Amino acid sequence: MSDRATLEHLVARAVRAPSSHNTQPWLFRPRAAGVALLADRRRALPVNDPEDRELTISCGCALLTLRAAAAEAGIATRVTPFPEPEDEDVLADVALEDGSAQAALAPLAAAIEARHTHRKRFEDTPVAKATLRALADAAEAEGARLDMLEGETTRGEAATLVAEGDRAQWDDPRWRRELAAWMHPRRRGDGLTLPGLAVPVAQLVVRSFDMGGGVAARDREIAAHSPVMALISTPDDGVGDWLAAGQALQRVLLAAAVEGVQASYLNQPIQVAALRPRLGRLAGAPGAPQILLRLGYPAEAPSPAPRRPVSEVIED
Ligand SMILES: Cc1cc2nc3c(=O)[nH]c(=O)nc-3n(C[C@H](O)[C@H](O)[C@H](O)COP(=O)(O)O)c2cc1C
Repeated sequence: MSDRATLEHLVARAVRAPSSHNTQPWLFRPRAAGVALLADRRRALPVNDPEDRELTISCGCALLTLRAAAAEAGIATRVTPFPEPEDEDVLADVALEDGSAQAALAPLAAAIEARHTHRKRFEDTPVAKATLRALADAAEAEGARLDMLEGETTRGEAATLVAEGDRAQWDDPRWRRELAAWMHPRRRGDGLTLPGLAVPVAQLVVRSFDMGGGVAARDREIAAHSPVMALISTPDDGVGDWLAAGQALQRVLLAAAVEGVQASYLNQPIQVAALRPRLGRLAGAPGAPQILLRLGYPAEAPSPAPRRPVSEVIED
């Protein structure tokens, strides 16, 4: 099961996972019976993400993607999180085995390439309750929760927190510099690229969503242009919770993309520590808020983000 061609196929699909600032902070180490997933902390964002929480979540997204791709190929996966306590960069060992693949994950693989972060407009079409329930189930299957922020008041308050978080981050020159350092030309294969936009405008757009003119987060616009607002949270806030949150996030995103629903991120009130508990209370989430999403049916075609070649992320 762990021949080179299989490994390269699975990694090529895993790297389609989303990652914070498109840093792609992962490495894959071939093992006799499978593959290990490592955090590549050279790609950390010390200002935006001082504890590597989002870095670990991004790696969790890649892990879920690899599991789904394996399931589609009829390969069973057995994941051992943190197999080497003396090396905290080794996030998981994935044994690839003959036998019964995880049936529930296989259909999600069809959406690996179709999923994109959609920062642009959504259609007004609401997302059906049954779809939202399925997304909550997807999060729960990975040990996390997905709570919808419903009602005008709650959504308005959440949007105010996003705008507050946005202001706090833009006021910090170190944070702005770090974001600018990850605005790359497409040929680099990583980072945030928005063709045709001047960098300062692009920097505003990547933070929240593109209203056409490139606007920073403004609360009423966020609330009005997010058909669904949903919070992923975990019971606690340790490294294991972050890895679970990443797998839950990607399971939710793929399940949504199968239905034609895409998402983008409103993470500012989670990244700004003072706002995080307020968001959790607002969503009725008892644990630790990890990712705030807006979801809906895209009104325009996505522009796929670049990826580094597989040869750069497999350790030899
Ligand atoms: C943990 C995490 C945090 C993210 N935070 C943001 C964010 O705050 N704002 C944003 O616009 N995109 C955010 N993204 C989306 C990434 O920028 C996106 O995944 C990356 O650019 C690759 O693009 P793609 O998702 O279309 O493949 C985040 C993604 C992850 C996994």
